[in-house]
Order: sequence, then structure tokens, then C-alpha cells
Amino acid sequence: MEIKLRQERKEDYKNVFQLIEKAFENIEYSDHKEQFLVERLRKSEAFIPELSIVAEAEGKIVGHILFTKLEIKNESQSFQSLALAPVSVLPEFQGKGVGSKLILNGHETAKSLGYKSVILLGHQDYYPRFGYELCEKYNIKMPFDVPAENCMVIALTENGLRGISGEVVYPSVFFE
Ligand SMILES: CC(C)(COP(=O)(O)OP(=O)(O)OC[C@H]1O[C@@H](n2cnc3c(N)ncnc32)[C@H](O)[C@@H]1OP(=O)(O)O)[C@@H](O)C(=O)NCCC(=O)NCCS
Repeated sequence: MEIKLRQERKEDYKNVFQLIEKAFENIEYSDHKEQFLVERLRKSEAFIPELSIVAEAEGKIVGHILFTKLEIKNESQSFQSLALAPVSVLPEFQGKGVGSKLILNGHETAKSLGYKSVILLGHQDYYPRFGYELCEKYNIKMPFDVPAENCMVIALTENGLRGISGEVVYPSVFFE
């Protein structure tokens, strides 16, 4: 199966909405509202058009990933980072490498735009294969109560997390 990745365009929004809805339909830990979160994020200051990426296969969009701006703050400093949320693959196309391709391609694009790290809340069995580590290790804290094993971070460059610690500040639209 050939998988092609490209930046999302305005005319994809409707398809991407439906794709996200379907991807999370049967996911137990989901609130089934991820498609609305993406709509809000696109309109927010945290949006980076190059980091809303779609995967096409067999003539249609089968996957989507979004990285948006966030900050890691402590008493004296504030660091820019990215949130990976959400990543979605149509159920019938899952397990074929689409998700992996979106994540790796997103990392490369983020790096080329100058971003140094990515934070996410996700499944502990999936993300470590891409190099994600526990936020705990870096003294990076989520602003809400979640199991430590689901809070992950990756450095996109060699020293991408050097000297960085603090609390994650998500764009406010995450909580609307
Ligand atoms: C998670 C998701 C994006 C992965 O994309 P994908 O194209 O299916 O993944 P890939 O084909 O690249 O990788 C497949 C591997 O991921 C694992 N995997 C897929 N979804 C997983 C999940 N939710 N938890 C743990 N592992 C998962 C598979 O078991 C498989 O593992 P293996 O390589 O050891 O056999 C996709 O399954 C999906 O859209 N799921 C529903 C939405 C969701 O849960 N999104 C993530 C939360 S933000």
C-alpha cells in the first residue's frame, strides 16, 4: 500500500473531521470529541499549518496528525514545545504503518521549523518506539492528574530537552 503524506488543506477539513470521528469511535479512553478539538485548534494561535498533516492511500485520506504550540513553564523560564494531539487513522487502515509515518514525518517537519521537543498524552506501548520517554524523567509535569506512564516527551534534536523542566501549559482551547 502506497502512503503519501502532505500538509492538510482547507478543502480536507470535512474529510478529516469524519476520519477523526471514526478513528476514535470505539476507543474506550476517548471522549469522542477529538474532531472538535482539531477544529478549535486550527482557529487558535497554537496552530501551525505545516504541522497538520494528512496521509493518503487508495485515493483517500486515511490518516491525520496535528502538532500545536505549547509551553513548558517554571518559576523563572518558559520554553516553547509542541503538543502531539491527536493522531488518527481510519480503523480499516490501522496497523499498516500510517500512524508511524505521520509521527516520523511530523517530527522531521517540526525539526525543520525549529521546534526542539514534543509532548503527548498517549499509550505507553505505542510511543516509546519513536523515542518518546516519560516526562517524569525530565521533571516535566502535566497540568492535570494523569498516570505518569502516559505522559511522554521526545527531544527532536540532540539537546532538545537540556535544561528544560516545568509544567506544561496547553493552549486554552484544549479545555473548552
Ligand atoms: C494509534 C494509531 C494512530 C496508530 O496508527 P496505526 O497506523 O494503526 O499504527 P502503525 O501501523 O504505525 O503501528 C502499528 C503498531 O501500533 C500499535 N498500536 C496501534 N494503536 C495502538 C494503541 N492505541 N495503543 C497501543 N499500541 C497501538 C499496534 O499494536 C502495532 O504494534 P506492533 O507494530 O507492535 O504490531 C491508530 O491506531 C488510531 O488511529 N487509533 C485510534 C485513535 C487513537 O487511539 N489515537 C491515539 C491517541 S491520540
